[in-house]
Amino acid sequence: MNERIRADFPIVNDIIYLDSAATSLTPEPVVEAVLSYYREYNANVGRGVYRLSQVVSQKYKDAHSKVAEFIGANEGEVVFTKNTTEAINMIAYGLKWSKGDEIVTTLLEHHSNFLPWLRLKEQGVHLKIVEPGKTGIFDLSDFEHAMSDSTRLVAVTQVSNVLGTISPIKEIAAICKEKGGANSLFLVDGAQSAPHIPIDVEELGCDFLAFSGHKMLGPTGTGVLWVKDPNELEPTLFGGGMIESVSKDDYTLASGYERFEAGTPHIAGGIGLGKAVDYLNAVGMEAMRSYEERLAKKLLEGLQGIEKVQVYGSTNPNERIGVVSFNINGLHPHDIALKLDETSDIMVRSGHHCCMPLMHYLGLKDGTVRASVYLYNTEGEVDTFLESVEVIAKGV
Ligand SMILES: Cc1ncc(COP(=O)(O)O)c(C=O)c1O
Repeated sequence: MNERIRADFPIVNDIIYLDSAATSLTPEPVVEAVLSYYREYNANVGRGVYRLSQVVSQKYKDAHSKVAEFIGANEGEVVFTKNTTEAINMIAYGLKWSKGDEIVTTLLEHHSNFLPWLRLKEQGVHLKIVEPGKTGIFDLSDFEHAMSDSTRLVAVTQVSNVLGTISPIKEIAAICKEKGGANSLFLVDGAQSAPHIPIDVEELGCDFLAFSGHKMLGPTGTGVLWVKDPNELEPTLFGGGMIESVSKDDYTLASGYERFEAGTPHIAGGIGLGKAVDYLNAVGMEAMRSYEERLAKKLLEGLQGIEKVQVYGSTNPNERIGVVSFNINGLHPHDIALKLDETSDIMVRSGHHCCMPLMHYLGLKDGTVRASVYLYNTEGEVDTFLESVEVIAKGV
């Protein structure tokens, strides 16, 4: 990646941002797209016949098409949400559950792909939790054993937001088809994968994909739910903009994404997300993945070479992305994050990363420090980060 890309992210002149797994920085073209909605064609979507309304409706629809194309989906299957959490909850609330249904999930999951299923226990739904090895790598036979005719849903993250490891989604999809019940469905949490890895939903073999626009250069308040068959899912919100027709006694839902987007949506955000997808396409997802692999390798090897530093997760660059968790013996993760900020203007995340069950499993009471890279980071920034960690570790 190059200086031209960095020029689109003015914040990088002042700090070293290594927290893109939480939310990414936003490039100028996306900021401009959001502003131009408010400045040039500010109107509601799908409602009016006047010119401005037509323009904005078309741009909002185009944004859906761009996102659909980005993940190899068809038009009408991509629903805009406010984040991954909302997208996953739409599945938990929108599917019909019966007593005895089973959900297969894993111990790697972010709370957003865990709590919605835990809550369903009240309805007699059983949860089966597959454990990865301590480095975050799964044994596929554990999925085979966990699935049965009673499996209604399999819900797995494609990339761990703590360990950065990539899960074998295609293989899990095949097991789900073979071993799961006739109407079993497969949800992939793509919050950490969609921003970094080229994705084709058909190739993945899943039924739902949830991800966050704000983690892939889009505005905050944007996310996506891809639904293979919109008829599988009941909308969770009812109101304006989501119907074909309404009578005194009945209603017919709209056929496309509109049926899941009741009420006025985050119009500027959606259009901004479309622009973010344009930006990622222009950079090239394959090129970005190789660049990030290089940064991740440097980060991992560097951290492993520092005394008193523990690194978590697989160290094989092929089975992970540039999300790296570590600790320094004798220091609390929050203290390390504060020192990195104070001494070197480096922003990293610390704590349990909304993955408490995984932290218990790994025996990490206070969690970890997590550094995560994106296309705007440089090898020089990684060097500065490693030097700063070394200084902090030496001071313990
Ligand atoms: C793997 C994973 N799933 C879900 C989420 C939730 O995303 P959001 O906060 O955008 O809803 C995150 C956020 O960090 C995540 O990393």
